[in-house]
Amino acid sequence: MYYGGDYNPEQWPEETWHDDVAKMREAGVTMVSIGIFAWSRIQPAEGVFDWEWLDTVIELLHAGGIAVDLATATASPPPWATSAYPEMLPRDEDGTVFWPGSRQAYAPSSPVYRRLASELVTALVERYAEHPAIVMWHVNNEYGCHLHYDYSDNAMHAFRDWLRAKYSTIDALNAAWGTAFWSQLYTDFEQIVPPRKAPYSRNPAGQLDFKRFTSDTLLELYRMEKRIIRAAGATQPVTTNFMGAFPPADYWRWAAEMDIISDDCYPDPNDPESFRSAAFARDLMRSFKPDVPWILMEQATSALNWRPTNAPKAPGQMAALSMQAVARGADGVLFFQWRQSRAGSEKFHSAMLPQAGTDTRTWREVTALGAALGALPQLPVGARDATVALVFDWQNWWAIDNPDHPTALDYPALVQRWYAAFHRMNVQLDIVHPGAELGRYKAVIAPQLYLLTSVDAANLLSYVEGGGHLLVTAFSDVVDENDAFRDGGYLTQLGEALGIRLEDFGALVAPGAAVATAASAGDSSSSPAAATGPGQVFAPFSSPLGVVTGTLLAEEIHLDGATQLGAFTGGRRDGDAAFTVNRHGDGAAYYLATIPDDAGCALIAEHLVAESGVEPVLAGLPPMVEAIRRGDVVAVINHGAASATVPVPSGVVLGCSELSCPTDDGVLAAREFTLEPFGFVLLDTEVESFQGSAQPWPSIR
Ligand code: GLA
Repeated sequence: MYYGGDYNPEQWPEETWHDDVAKMREAGVTMVSIGIFAWSRIQPAEGVFDWEWLDTVIELLHAGGIAVDLATATASPPPWATSAYPEMLPRDEDGTVFWPGSRQAYAPSSPVYRRLASELVTALVERYAEHPAIVMWHVNNEYGCHLHYDYSDNAMHAFRDWLRAKYSTIDALNAAWGTAFWSQLYTDFEQIVPPRKAPYSRNPAGQLDFKRFTSDTLLELYRMEKRIIRAAGATQPVTTNFMGAFPPADYWRWAAEMDIISDDCYPDPNDPESFRSAAFARDLMRSFKPDVPWILMEQATSALNWRPTNAPKAPGQMAALSMQAVARGADGVLFFQWRQSRAGSEKFHSAMLPQAGTDTRTWREVTALGAALGALPQLPVGARDATVALVFDWQNWWAIDNPDHPTALDYPALVQRWYAAFHRMNVQLDIVHPGAELGRYKAVIAPQLYLLTSVDAANLLSYVEGGGHLLVTAFSDVVDENDAFRDGGYLTQLGEALGIRLEDFGALVAPGAAVATAASAGDSSSSPAAATGPGQVFAPFSSPLGVVTGTLLAEEIHLDGATQLGAFTGGRRDGDAAFTVNRHGDGAAYYLATIPDDAGCALIAEHLVAESGVEPVLAGLPPMVEAIRRGDVVAVINHGAASATVPVPSGVVLGCSELSCPTDDGVLAAREFTLEPFGFVLLDTEVESFQGSAQPWPSIR
């Protein structure tokens, strides 16, 4: 279990480094990430390297028994580089330059940036490849974080090359992009520019390819550095830090290139529900590489600096969120950053060692968490615990984000709405690509799969045929990989298995949108749910478990073998099918012709859980408490600011927060007990007697 954080010794004098290592030992730190933003310190001029300080820091850490995750330092080119080679600077879609003076001022396609980054990494790795302190390589930092897309000439030339490699001929590109529309026919790849600012809507297939190109380009940078690391003979695992469901990088493709998945996650303490989106991110990370524990590479000990208002974490909340990551498969809990900066943009960002010193709640919680994590035994990998899968696909996200659709949809938010519905029931989910092996799941939820390739459609169909329960929701199976309709209407691939035909998408007014409502359109009903006419906002429908509020779309579907489970009540689709099921092969294919709100997703999720025989990790928990399984280990965590009484199974306590330890001797018989606010307990449910070495459990307060 790694414990530690980003360590930026270049911001401090050498005396402080000694104090740092001493305090790291006190806090139970086992690994730090160094050098992430140290390019200008390591290489003060082209061809000139200053290793002395870094040698000293690494030796000090090593002598202190602290392992090093050594960054390649390529995330922020120094001023000498951008002054000498201004052509490496990125531009936005209007052509405006992103100047240096912050961080990440480089165009990913820039040949100069690539040369300079390669020279730096080559020198760094040659020096440290075999140093015993180095246990991991941290390539760059949060690729694409601030600059999602670069539209500079660097990008233009690289995009053309990428398109040449993909299409070979310009005719093939024209066919894929549908350029007969609006006189867009190209006669040469050299005529193509990135989707820069244009008078009106830009070619959707071109935009989709530009997003693919951007993801591939950033990944190419990672690969370039990884190749250099391996060429120098370094054998340590290599990673770069992900950022949850991050728009510009198709992490399904990236994950294969990571030896270890690592993630940065900053749930907002001001949002009491943010632990659910954090849970989603953690399940996503585990799902990328289920057989290899991942690392929470960055979180905050308390407040941030980059939201409009930055609340501190509540007492115990940092440990609760850390245990959430551990329970969802992490074998490392690290922070941004070790010592709070004295200057710079992030000086108000909390750290393990606060500016206010060690007589602080943060420091006490940091040392307590270090001790608690240090006392944990090796945990099972827990790769195969979920029986429900939630489909999430970047290519589909990019296509849905194109404009000019029946209605604008926030794909990741809608996926997470389904996630939250199952999370509230404590049903464990894996997040999967639509082409993933699905055979072991009892149910698969596939929200808004607008872009569905034939390969992925065949995969979903064979899952149903083999006995699975598949839920497909509105605005799915609409276009192919070029964002173009297929012959034969909509749902051309899944329609038969679903037993329905789709005629029209029936866009509704987005809830909260400032346009004519049902009332102003002359509807006499006082209930918005019964809205009719042009301003219809909600599309209520019956479900086996009660009335559900549909939003955004009320599709016109026709039964073609399916059984109707629910019909729209009121509105322009009054009486028409809204929720259907079709037995197909050995399984069942469900269709929802609208997009339920939170409560509606909960009802549909409950129905699917019952129909497919899915079990929650623990039933009957209060809303702010979650239960998670990692192999035989079960964690019960209270993310609420109030105490909660919960039922727990019998087992041996592996860790718990101070006031929430339900036992003195480590063994727990199944019973109810009270979790303090942000209290947690981690149990091994299979072991019958305590075999650990440290009791009572280190205090988390
Ligand atoms: C990101 C970066 C860090 C730091 C933190 C602040 O995760 O990787 O360098 O800026 O944000 O929250």
